Amino acid sequence: MSGPSTYTPSNGFTRWLDSRLPLMRFMNDTMVTFPTPRNLNVWYTFGGILTFCLAVQIVTGIVLAMHYTPTAAGAFDSVENIMRNVNYGWLLRYMHANGASMFFLAVYIHMFRGLYYGSYKAPREVLWILGVIIYLLMMATAFFGYVLPWGQMSFWGATVITNLFSSIDQIVPHAGTAITTWLWGGFAVGDPTLNRFFSLHYLLPFVIAGVVGLHIWALHVPGNNNPLGIDVKGPQDTVPFHPYYTVKDAFYMSLFVMLFAVLVFFAPNFVGNPDNYLHANPLVTPAHIVPEWYLLPFYAMLRAVPQKLLGVVVLFGAIVTLALIPWLDTSKVRSLRFRPMLKPFFWFLVVDCIILGYLGSKEPQAVLHLGSSIEISYLWIARVATRYYYGFFWLALPIIGIVETPKPLPDSIAKAVLGRDAQAPAAAE
Ligand code: HEM
Repeated sequence: MSGPSTYTPSNGFTRWLDSRLPLMRFMNDTMVTFPTPRNLNVWYTFGGILTFCLAVQIVTGIVLAMHYTPTAAGAFDSVENIMRNVNYGWLLRYMHANGASMFFLAVYIHMFRGLYYGSYKAPREVLWILGVIIYLLMMATAFFGYVLPWGQMSFWGATVITNLFSSIDQIVPHAGTAITTWLWGGFAVGDPTLNRFFSLHYLLPFVIAGVVGLHIWALHVPGNNNPLGIDVKGPQDTVPFHPYYTVKDAFYMSLFVMLFAVLVFFAPNFVGNPDNYLHANPLVTPAHIVPEWYLLPFYAMLRAVPQKLLGVVVLFGAIVTLALIPWLDTSKVRSLRFRPMLKPFFWFLVVDCIILGYLGSKEPQAVLHLGSSIEISYLWIARVATRYYYGFFWLALPIIGIVETPKPLPDSIAKAVLGRDAQAPAAAE
């Protein structure tokens, strides 16, 4: 962790423990006295909020698993049993299902915050890549989880996504089909598939927790970036993490919990798909198979490409691209506050991802009517939006970084925040 330890054991027990397992020292240095830039804003509270979300998912998930049956014959009914008979089962399930949505909402804010303030740049590349790994693991976990209630969308979603592997047939004949059959554990999505998805759905959150530990370790070595994107120059630029940021995090976390509660208690099925209240039926394909909202932008990219294998490459390429951003961005300046040329492109990327999400939820053959005579196919819009996504990272980031003239950076965080009165009393040791 950055800087020498400031911990002094206060009694016999903590002195004894400190020379054997310095756990209290570790907690103190990372969560109490840790010198944190004094200008972190609301967007910096989402890391804590995400940790809370992960804990909620693990706790509610463990209790749900006590009542869940991972078999094709029993899964759907066991979920209904949880909803109707298990004490507070409805609350656990609604918290878990909506908790996943809140988790993704928070992670998207967290990621766009990192993009906006250039937090992926040196020396935080490993921190960022660990984040991308967490994001991938989150998507896999959510996908496995969605299969478990064994509704129509569970079954058909699993069928569509696992079938993507069969596109490998186009490079090595039969290999893709062989992999898909192996993944299914049979010749269609069925009992063995559900069983292994349940096992993985239980396992992955703990893997995520492990990677989050590394993520926070990688954060604490260089310390936090901040909205100005400039380095901490001395103690006048920081405040101790506690109480300044513990209080701020707790405040915004409680607002987040209120929003979460509104969803759980007043609109628990708002983000769900009604088709998933129908038992999985391999003989009836739903008219419109869609994933959960947080995967829709990638689904739109997949469908925008006419060739299946290429669609899969574009889908996975979109995520791999994220891991490469630290090297795609050529600018020396981190924060977009000082990058007037890239900033509008960033905001258009946000809009672009929302557009892709919307398109992912629509039938691909649908058409947008502009007035009575102009019609634009959604497929065409999805193709333009996918190109913009790639264009932002592979063209705008490297080129604008070279040609842009950034605005002058402030001398220090303290000067920017406090003006001339830069020697503030609350500076961290
Ligand atoms: C379970 C999911 C995650 C958890 C629990 C988590 C946790 C945290 C925490 C506690 C912080 C410090 C507080 C803050 O800056 O908000 C942080 C910072 C950061 N996270 Fe995450 N994170 C997660 C996912 C991600 C993802 C998916 C990415 C990017 C792909 C990411 C990238 C970053 C970056 C770049 C920072 C440093 C920000 C800065 O100092 O400006 N994180 N994370």
